[in-house]
Amino acid sequence: MGEYIQELRATAAAMVAPGKGILAMDESDGTCNKRFDVLGIPTTEEYRQAYRQLILTVPNLSAYVSGPILYDETIRQSTTDGKPFVQVIQEAGMIPGIKVDMGAKDMAGHPGEKVTEGLDGLRDRIAEYYAMGARFAKWRAVITIDAVAGTPSLGCIEANAHALARYAALCQEGGLVPIVEPEVLIDGEHTLEQCFEVTDETLEEVFTQLRHQGVEFDQMILKPSMVIPGKSCPQQASVDEVAEATITCLQKNVPATVAGIAFLSGGQSMQDASAHLNAMNAKFRDRCPWPVTFSYARAIQQPALEHWSGDPSRVPEAQKRLLQRAELNSAASVGSYDSKMERPLAVV
Ligand code: G3H
Repeated sequence: MGEYIQELRATAAAMVAPGKGILAMDESDGTCNKRFDVLGIPTTEEYRQAYRQLILTVPNLSAYVSGPILYDETIRQSTTDGKPFVQVIQEAGMIPGIKVDMGAKDMAGHPGEKVTEGLDGLRDRIAEYYAMGARFAKWRAVITIDAVAGTPSLGCIEANAHALARYAALCQEGGLVPIVEPEVLIDGEHTLEQCFEVTDETLEEVFTQLRHQGVEFDQMILKPSMVIPGKSCPQQASVDEVAEATITCLQKNVPATVAGIAFLSGGQSMQDASAHLNAMNAKFRDRCPWPVTFSYARAIQQPALEHWSGDPSRVPEAQKRLLQRAELNSAASVGSYDSKMERPLAVV
């Protein structure tokens, strides 16, 4: 029995409490800068701090969000009034999380495939983040489907699953609930069936490795991608088809004792990300032994980021837009979202 077992169980349960999901605001500096570049926002620490302050001070965010995932730069930042972001999160009744992987890198011997790095020194970084107030962590693995290139390879799936499991074991040892994120990318021409096959194989390997590393399922959250056709696939699927295929794949591979499922949005439209999550909870709830919620980045933040565009006078409206998406996804997590709830955004 680990030192943190009760705390880990309580944290995991709070992360997926009814009507709550996770806000993935853990873009690395590089990814954040890429999103800023598109909108002409200066790619400086000052602007990244301002953007993260905008998000973390959204009034009433904790009604829908159990915890935000921070990045190493962000967990060390404060508001312009000098209050550490971690304290802002705690005072709002949310739980601070932290991305601990060091990014998906080109995998040697596997052209076109990635393996996520960051295990070296991870025990010490976990201890530092725990001392700073973090109580959960995230590690993202990336799986690419390309039927022509013959990916994903078994080697790529195995290496990523092994790293996810070693990361998860280290997190539980150090008091952080691991979010285990094997993302099957939506890019490409693959069909729903091909996505199902790859997600199935990936999840099977991930849970095999988690077992081998002694990870406790009731003290972890799985962050999967949905089973969905590739963006360039001519044959797109209905909302119900995606929801059913996703739940079937999860049911086949995810032990009932896992504390919760929190999906990534993966480049789906905001409306699709909400509709798919909603259908899983509204139509397939009886097939889910775990809470099924969101851990979205783009599908929550994008309207706020676009509206703000670096202009301080636009912060209040940008915050409303972020809260609206958080509220809609909260509704989807309990099966009460309806596309009619998509209010037109104010033109300001
Ligand atoms: O790692 C990816 C994020 O945590 C989720 O981002 O919802 O934009 O796919 P996304």
